[in-house]
Amino acid sequence: MTHAAPLVVVGGGIAGLCTALATAPRPVLLLGRGERSEDTASTMAQGGIAAALGPADSIGAHVADTLLAGAFRNDGALVRALAAAAPAAIEWLRGHGVDFDRDGDGGSLQLGREGGHQFARIVHAGGDATGARVVAALSHAVATAPHVRWRGGIDVDGLLVRGGAVVGVRLGGAGAGEVVVTDAVVFATGGIGALFARTTNPAGADGSGLALALAAGARSRDLEFVQFHPTALDLPTHSLPLLTEALRGRGARLVDADGRPLMAGLHPQGDLAPRDVVARRVWQAGCNGGAWLDSTGLGIDWQREFPTALAACTAHGIDPAAVLVPVTAAAHFHMGGLATDAAGNTSLPGLYAVGEVACNGVHGANRLASNSLLEGVVSGRRLGARLARSACAFRRGGGTVLVERGRGLSGAGLGAVHDLLWRAVGPVRSGHGLRSALAAVTPLAEAGWQGRLARDLMEAAARRRISVGAHWRDDAVPKAQLESGVA
Ligand code: SIN
Repeated sequence: MTHAAPLVVVGGGIAGLCTALATAPRPVLLLGRGERSEDTASTMAQGGIAAALGPADSIGAHVADTLLAGAFRNDGALVRALAAAAPAAIEWLRGHGVDFDRDGDGGSLQLGREGGHQFARIVHAGGDATGARVVAALSHAVATAPHVRWRGGIDVDGLLVRGGAVVGVRLGGAGAGEVVVTDAVVFATGGIGALFARTTNPAGADGSGLALALAAGARSRDLEFVQFHPTALDLPTHSLPLLTEALRGRGARLVDADGRPLMAGLHPQGDLAPRDVVARRVWQAGCNGGAWLDSTGLGIDWQREFPTALAACTAHGIDPAAVLVPVTAAAHFHMGGLATDAAGNTSLPGLYAVGEVACNGVHGANRLASNSLLEGVVSGRRLGARLARSACAFRRGGGTVLVERGRGLSGAGLGAVHDLLWRAVGPVRSGHGLRSALAAVTPLAEAGWQGRLARDLMEAAARRRISVGAHWRDDAVPKAQLESGVA
């Protein structure tokens, strides 16, 4: 069955929701992989949204922290635009009913602290339930917006390409057999954390959108820039509960098996150093007996401030106020992805990308904490507003070709991809590890799209022979040290 829709947005997380809302009054079909937006990684975001709102803070300081965390690999103009747009993004979300936490007097917004930030600037809702509150509010807005048609349970598994331009999508899942022709397809399909053996992401964050766009010939960028979160609850499972960095902002400390502080003397910001620095230390401690988060003695109201982290711990018989919590580094966020310009254009006409699947360079080599929900709102609204105005029909001649993502791996093959990526493209990499992983992944790349994507990541990591941001090679000196002559 073939339908037509003026615009198609693929992905029900924060970037997809914001893009769809902003196309008004132009009708848009919003396709989610889960039945509801609640199943996305955005919902699981705990810490909050960074915005320079404190009395001593400034847009310039937010910009400086974003660039420093990103190892100065960021697009400076986009960083400035992002930081400058943050206060208005918070206001816009409040207008959609997000009830951000306020100080005891009910007055000013409460501002939390996270790694890499010189000031308390993390706006949050429901304590550590920020992503869930924001997604709930935006889902409600989408459900009541007359221009948006939402369909859940849809896996877009093919792209229609005519004359080099994307002109439609083929649906799988609940829409199997249907084709939608359209003027513009927006991919807001999220990250790739679920391709790694240890991740804070939900199962759906497996890079399926990225793999499909690459199969159609879209250009990628910085695929090797994968961020690892230092404090996932260490369980013997694939998807791990996050213990927000805001806990360290409230005074929690990382310790080793002997109770010694892990971050002492390593970085001037200690436990609140940028995430890549802390994640590598936790990874290293994990190889030498383990790492723990010490939140005992914080004297906080856990139920009010950290209900999500508390629930995750209690579900596994851990009382975080009384005992040390075992933690591990885990794949968390993809800074790389589909190469886009500032406006969200990919290299294929008719295909746009926004949010985590896109790489416009704003996050550089390591995203600053709590800049991701912010970027989803800002870039989603920017792209949606543009698509609302532009006619953008690619009525090129020639035949239409269906590009498919292709067969997927399951069972042992998929497990092997998870393990290979974790070992070779994890928090610490090496040329030797990458070479042997590339040899092992070759048959998996022939067998399924996850193997091909894993191979693309390994090749990108092998090509970048320096350590920069979250891409750390233990056989390479960090670029900053090379430049300063410290090496
Ligand atoms: C966290 O709360 O620690 C994660 C937030 C983020 O990914 O920026």
